Amino acid sequence: MQEQKLSQLLQKLCGREEDLNTLNSVFEKARIRNSNVEAVFIAGPSGCGKSALVEQAFKNKECLLGSGKYAQRRDSQPLSVFVRVMTQIFDTIGSTNLEKYKNLLKDELSYDDKRTLNQIIPKYSGYMCAPTTGLNEKLDLSSIKGLQQIKNSLRCFFRTVALEDCPIVIHVDDLQWASDTTLDLFEFILLDSEIKQLVFIGCYRDDEILNNKTALKWIERISSSSNQTTKLSIGTLSSDAINNLLSDLLKLDEKETKDLAILMKKRTNGNVFYILQLLDHLQAEGLLYRDIMTCQFKWDIFKVQEQTLLSDNVVELVTANMRRLPTIVGEVMKLASCLGFRFNEKILILIKGIIQSQVEIKDVEIQDCLRILIKEGLMERFENGDLEFSHNKIYQATVSE
Ligand SMILES: Nc1ncnc2c1ncn2[C@@H]1O[C@H](COP(=O)(O)OP(=O)(O)OP(=O)(O)O)[C@@H](O)[C@H]1O
Ligand SMILES: [Mg+2]
Repeated sequence: MQEQKLSQLLQKLCGREEDLNTLNSVFEKARIRNSNVEAVFIAGPSGCGKSALVEQAFKNKECLLGSGKYAQRRDSQPLSVFVRVMTQIFDTIGSTNLEKYKNLLKDELSYDDKRTLNQIIPKYSGYMCAPTTGLNEKLDLSSIKGLQQIKNSLRCFFRTVALEDCPIVIHVDDLQWASDTTLDLFEFILLDSEIKQLVFIGCYRDDEILNNKTALKWIERISSSSNQTTKLSIGTLSSDAINNLLSDLLKLDEKETKDLAILMKKRTNGNVFYILQLLDHLQAEGLLYRDIMTCQFKWDIFKVQEQTLLSDNVVELVTANMRRLPTIVGEVMKLASCLGFRFNEKILILIKGIIQSQVEIKDVEIQDCLRILIKEGLMERFENGDLEFSHNKIYQATVSE
């Protein structure tokens, strides 16, 4: 049987205890009755572990967590980040508290608010006891009046659902690609003095945000208008943290993994995404293998050292890992990349006939390949059925293939 990829077995977050404690205390502050909005900005280079940190910090907390992220290429749906945040919030409410929230929304939202929220997330119109009109109308983002209505409705929504015993945590990822309109909407919510018990977490790549001046100024504006702002800078992992990660993953004592940890630090500078790609590469190349007798992981540090001399480019490493997939899977990835970072399966099947691929692909094969890509952790599927490359380095590697 083929051994599972090491990158998919990792369950622990290493070397981030201090940052987890900081997020924990922010959350505790937000739980205090009538607390003001807490904003946290998490900056760091791509792949250093910003998203993983937030996921770990809030996964077992009693809160309504809504996560959304911006896409590198402009989304066809301008409010998609709100749709994702609110969808997750509704999903977290679940059936236990359904009636409580339904009643709150029914009482607190005006007719216009219900109608607008219906247009933003029609799937949850049942929660709003909303008028059925408006469901098929398009949101008016182009006029000042239309935008103001959306702002008011979102504000009213968050005023209503953030409760003392169950705060709201909004996690917005990849702010470096944020659009002006949605930043404006978030600002309206974050600076509203009547919204209580809400934590906003914005993550961004500190180098790439320099290209989005509006987002940069927005972060500074939010930070200076609120005392409740925390800024975290997430760097690379130290050799000790890498050693902890390796020991956990390879099920070996830290003394035994130390030489590999030092080499990994040298090769990757401690970037976690890079470390995981390198581990998969070593495993696939047989440089990291299980001893037949003891079943424990083994490696020859001199061989690893020698054969990883050229692994100094993460995209090349991702490309090498992708080349090990069956040809047809790679072809489906390439085809999908023509549709962008995020794509729709039906459209992928449609364009298959238009764009020439090196191998002939049947509809059913596309579905099989997508299943493999999801299993391999290269793509993710969303509630609405759309798919996305799980990391933009993977997308980048596919495009450059
Ligand atoms: N401290 C850590 N310990 C173990 N694994 C980690 C740690 N941080 C991140 N990871 C893993 O490393 C990978 C990259 O992390 P993540 O996606 O959070 O990076 P990121 O900073 O959000 O990158 P990007 O800016 O590209 O979105 C993920 O698979 C994640 O689970
Ligand atoms: Mg991320």
